[in-house]
This record gives sequence, C-alpha cells and structure tokens, in this order.
Amino acid sequence: MNVKEIDIRYSNLAESNCCLSCGGALIYARPVSGEICLDLGSGRGNDVIRMAEQVGNDGFAYGLDISEGMLQKARKVAQRLDVHNVKFLKSELEVIPLDDDHLDLTISNCTINHADNKQVVWNEIFRILKSGGRFVVSDIFSTEDVPDKYRNDPVAVAECWAGAVTKKVYFETLNKAGFKDLEILEESTPYPKGGIEVSSFTIKGIKP
Ligand SMILES: C[S@@+](CC[C@H](N)C(=O)[O-])C[C@H]1O[C@@H](n2cnc3c(N)ncnc32)[C@H](O)[C@@H]1O
Repeated sequence: MNVKEIDIRYSNLAESNCCLSCGGALIYARPVSGEICLDLGSGRGNDVIRMAEQVGNDGFAYGLDISEGMLQKARKVAQRLDVHNVKFLKSELEVIPLDDDHLDLTISNCTINHADNKQVVWNEIFRILKSGGRFVVSDIFSTEDVPDKYRNDPVAVAECWAGAVTKKVYFETLNKAGFKDLEILEESTPYPKGGIEVSSFTIKGIKP
C-alpha cells in the first residue's frame, strides 16, 4: 500500500473547505445513546464528532485515518468543541487497532476505495463489530474493471477513483466477509472521474 501519496494529498486538504464525502453514511446510520462507533477514514473528524454527540457520554466514537494532517485537524476540532468521548487512531484500513466484537456501528465515507486489499478491510470491519452490529458505508464503484495503468498509479488511487472496484466485486467481498442483510440505501447515476466512470452509493449490512 502506498500510503505516502494518500498522506500527502489528504494532509494538504486538512485545512481546506473542500468536500471529501461521496454519500450520506451518517444520515442512514442513526447512532443511538450508548453505542460504540467507528468512522474509517475519518478525515477532519466531523462525522466522529457528530456520532459522539449522538451516542452521548455512555457511548464512544473512534475515528481512524492514516493522514497525520487530518488527524491533527480532527483532534483540534474535538478539543475546541470540548468533545471527550472520542479518540482518533492513526492506522491503515487493513489493520484496525480495536478488539474483536467491540463495536455497534462502523461508518465510512469515500475511503474504502483507497485500500489495496479491500477483502482484508471488510474482514476487519466484520471482526470488530458485535454480533448484530451494522456498517453503513458510502463509497464509489466503477462501472467497468479499472485498467491496471490507473489502478497501479498511487496518485490516481489517492485522488479517490482509481482504486474503485465494480459493484459485483464489491458485493462478493462483503459476502465473503460474512455480512448479511446487505442493502443499497442510495446510488448515483454513473459519472466520469479521472480516466474512468464511477457511481457512488451508500450500503448497509449486519454482522449476524
Ligand atoms: C475522501 S477523504 C474522506 C474523509 C471523510 N470521511 C469525509 O467524508 O469527509 C478519505 C480519507 O481517508 C483517509 N484514507 C485514505 N486511505 C486510507 C488508508 N489506506 N488507511 C487509512 N486512512 C485512509 C484519508 O487520509 C482521508 O482522510
């Protein structure tokens, strides 16, 4: 995994106002009081802080990101807003430093497409969720297989498009990880991005 390009790109964007999201994961996730939640690729920390407010002092919200700039920004915002039931973890998506069967909810917005090994990421999400826990993830998928010349370009992957897989491959990965009750909550019409065509969607699933 070439996390260097990702760190450079996203640390540079940490203080900008540019929108980084591709869907409404948190709108559909609806965390409730007492839940323990995680946002994978938490960026500036906005969704983590919203989740922390929604789960209250009996709950907890983690953010995970690889970009030092994004983590610094997120910690600064949490401190400024006096939000204490949060923790921001520095890690790659493939190695989530949380215990098995620990979480009620994992969300992610426009991040999993960056991962080299998406099966390992989804296996990790399955591992850390409690039985009955849910994920709500917004991401992109490609309408065709992404040509190797783009897939192997770390800058194009960091730009949030060349790491995309097709919807079929996406759902095969979710099924292989063990998730049930998979549901597409919203889906865009295809649009050109970089050298390919993608759609964004928000999906949900349950760990049985
Ligand atoms: C498009 S931004 C989305 C940020 C946030 N979720 C939002 O919607 O505003 C993707 C985020 O994922 C992080 N990221 C990308 N690849 C990652 C990886 N392999 N491991 C951990 N974090 C990653 C980036 O640093 C960045 O903060």
